Amino acid sequence: MAAQSRTLILLKPDAVQRGLIGTIISLIEQRGLKIVGLKLIQIDDALARRHYAAHVDKPFFPGLHKFITSSPVVALAVQGVNAVEVMRQIAGATDPSKAAPGTIRANFGLSIGMNIIHGSDSAESAAQELALYFRPNEIIDWQRDADAWIIET
Ligand code: RTP
Ligand code: MG
Repeated sequence: MAAQSRTLILLKPDAVQRGLIGTIISLIEQRGLKIVGLKLIQIDDALARRHYAAHVDKPFFPGLHKFITSSPVVALAVQGVNAVEVMRQIAGATDPSKAAPGTIRANFGLSIGMNIIHGSDSAESAAQELALYFRPNEIIDWQRDADAWIIET
């Protein structure tokens, strides 16, 4: 079976407030990716600073911090072939007004500060970010029978 990887996905406060949780999770499932962790959480100040540590000194950080802590988010651990890259592709460019047609950000967003979804940008950040949101026993290595029809052996 092809090598698989995991990535941390957040459905951001705008997605939760707009009732898009189910729609976006369906898109992830329909692509063939497998959900191995799932929770609704309220990001607090400390977690916001850890998650966006690379951006704390950027001019947009105060707005980003206010937004990401403004309502609950849905955190997902997503597994599949090239999961990090595939999720970045289907999420689309950071600015939804410039994202490619058909991507999640293009389908549901218009503003860079309310761009619906987060996806880890590398295998290294995926490992760090998954550890921020999930304890080891909250990620479940389950057998999905449909994988026989999705992932070539
Ligand atoms: P994310 O981390 O949220 O998945 O987004 P990303 O990789 O596509 O973009 P990144 O550069 O990591 O930026 C993190 C979030 O900060 C906000 N941002 N605002 N106003 C601006 O110029 C600006 N640039 C970035 C966005 O909400 C972006 O998702
Ligand atoms: Mg990023």
